[in-house]
Amino acid sequence: MIKDDLSKIVSKAREKIFSSVDSSVLNDIRVAVLGKKGELTSILKGMKDVPEDERPKVGALVNDARKAVEDALAEKKKALEALELSRRLSREKLDITLPAKRLRKGHPHPNTLALSEIRKIFTGMGYEVVDGPDIELDYYNFEALNIPEGHPAKDEQDTFYINKEILLRTQTSGVQVRQMEKRKPPIRMIAPGRVFRADEVDATHSPVFHQVEGMVIDKGIRFSDLKGTLEGFAKKLFGEETRVKFRPHHFPFTEPSAEMDVSCFKCGGKGCRFCKGEGWIEILGCGMMHPKVLSMSGVDPDEYSGFAFGLGLERIALLKYEIDDMRLLYENDTRFLSQF
Ligand code: DAH
Repeated sequence: MIKDDLSKIVSKAREKIFSSVDSSVLNDIRVAVLGKKGELTSILKGMKDVPEDERPKVGALVNDARKAVEDALAEKKKALEALELSRRLSREKLDITLPAKRLRKGHPHPNTLALSEIRKIFTGMGYEVVDGPDIELDYYNFEALNIPEGHPAKDEQDTFYINKEILLRTQTSGVQVRQMEKRKPPIRMIAPGRVFRADEVDATHSPVFHQVEGMVIDKGIRFSDLKGTLEGFAKKLFGEETRVKFRPHHFPFTEPSAEMDVSCFKCGGKGCRFCKGEGWIEILGCGMMHPKVLSMSGVDPDEYSGFAFGLGLERIALLKYEIDDMRLLYENDTRFLSQF
């Protein structure tokens, strides 16, 4: 009788086991049949009603039944695992003959390209590259550069003021002052950075653009040093055949001051559409450090002299890469940028 019960339990269990489709069901079956409250266990508990001499035989039968169920579970588990593995393998199959996806590479921005050339040229001459704050005090942007209250240069530059003393810098020239305050000459530095002016956007203007400031202070620096340095710079940047011309100009922080033109690298100076028939293209402002600017920042003008210059980075990038509209530099259209 027990024997019948056992074989019924085993065959029912096997049927369930072999028809199951995932391994969590197998565990439920294990618990239901072999667990503490399982069907086989309850038969073992009924052993006390079996006559003593039959108990070993019945015990052996129960053990056989348990083993049969365990074997079935193990067999089914293996089969399910093999099935899962083959499913996973086919899911993860790679077709190595498929063409690869093209990696989209980024391009350095024309400003970045121009700046890295400028940096290379000046660091090659022993200049350091330094930084200054975009949000600046009126003192550094104007006053310490000999641009006092009410000076026309202050209106000319249409400044974004944050309050009476704090503004978005309109020029990188303030970095000259910060450097003089921070360290002793000799100083040879360039300071690239963002500047801000309340200009409308058009082909040649933007309220945010970039300048590169330069400053050299040492004993015995003369205008010929300025000329030689900036001429060498222009030839490296635009080609050895480039000629330069200095035109007198006025900046409050330099005396004397000049603007430097380079011979048009498109027509060589004959005059073309690129240089608007002039043969020359203006690229920077420069001059000898004003003695007042030196002394205001703690540099003795009797001991030291220096020169400074400032150029518009966008202007250089537009010229160098023959781009005719500054707005293209800010739109970040990848069709434009990918050309560089
Ligand atoms: N800061 C001037 C500007 O924004 C450019 C400039 C001119 C910088 C002469 C200089 C300089 O250092 O010496 O127009």
